[in-house]
Amino acid sequence: MKALVLSGGSGTRLRPFTHSMPKQLIPIANKPVLVHVLENIRDLGVREAGIIVGDRAQQIEQALGDGSGLGMRITYIPQERPLGLAHCVSLARPFLGRDDFVMYLGDNMLPDGVTDVAAEFTARRPDAQVVVHKVSDPRAFGVAELAADGRVERLVEKPQEPRSDLAMVGVYFFTPAIHRAVASIRPSARGELEITDAVQWLLSHGGEVRASEYAGYWKDTGRAEDVLECNQRILEGLSPHVAGHIDRDSTISGNVVIEPGARVLMSRIEGPAMIGAGSVIENSHVGPGTCIGRDCELRGTRLTNSIVLEGARISGVPGLHSSLIGRGSQVGPSAPRSAHHRLVVGDDAWIEVA
Ligand code: DAU
Repeated sequence: MKALVLSGGSGTRLRPFTHSMPKQLIPIANKPVLVHVLENIRDLGVREAGIIVGDRAQQIEQALGDGSGLGMRITYIPQERPLGLAHCVSLARPFLGRDDFVMYLGDNMLPDGVTDVAAEFTARRPDAQVVVHKVSDPRAFGVAELAADGRVERLVEKPQEPRSDLAMVGVYFFTPAIHRAVASIRPSARGELEITDAVQWLLSHGGEVRASEYAGYWKDTGRAEDVLECNQRILEGLSPHVAGHIDRDSTISGNVVIEPGARVLMSRIEGPAMIGAGSVIENSHVGPGTCIGRDCELRGTRLTNSIVLEGARISGVPGLHSSLIGRGSQVGPSAPRSAHHRLVVGDDAWIEVA
């Protein structure tokens, strides 16, 4: 079996981050979402992955290289414009050949893995095996209607009036039967070749499509609040490890990772939390659910349930929570006695001032 990982797209819901980086490289527990994805694929025993990349291809290739760091072989497949998930399958056809494959959306987090689903697919080998999960509002997803025996009866992409509460998770197992379906469908109202429509085509043409109801945790990390929630969830399982330096005036509680070269001075770190390599935390309080990336500086600051990306500097801000701070950002106090807030903020940023 091969893997097809979708890592193009425009990521509009994760602006401003996606003005400068692909959403699949946003770190969760200090590791890009895409690496979590590839680790799950490797756990299936799959070693060959094709990755669809868009206009941020260079950053993705820089992060993953040829895949050998992960024990995999990666082939990059460029997509000029995000024309849809089924378009990605047709682009990957030469790479996929006649093999079965798992198609995995590069922004989907499933920390409990997908080995059970892979086993179900391998045991019965239907034309397609989709994964579904109950959600309270399925309108932002593909929605599946199932028969009592688990066979799929109907699939609709982002319906305004969903007829079930089963959202389609971004992991699909396919036999080569999907290629004919992909070649037969037309673009949807939003102008994309939808994989949901291709699987529905299989159904309408007598194909067997099965669904696995996913019991574990699943998050599509499409929006900032999803990223933070998912980060918090992954940190719950954090194994503590201290490689950096903690001075005698600092306290550490709960599960905490301090990466090599990080320094914690006169501070309190309350886990679960991670401090990235080379970062300095001084006179600060880092609260639960927080990940500080590499080479950051925090001084006189208190923050909880937040993600701070590489090279950011925060000083003198005592009450940050549920925040996402981009690479190389600076956050600090205003001039002494100033009653004003001063902001130099990029496009599509989002700020809440108390
Ligand atoms: O997350 C699950 C949902 O993913 C499913 O329930 C939906 O049925 C499915 O259509 C998809 O919906 P999204 O609107 O969330 O898809 P998004 O545009 O975010 O794209 C998913 C991934 O595929 C993302 O990593 C970007 C990548 N992509 C997307 C498009 C449209 C590409 O590589 N190329 C593309 O042309």
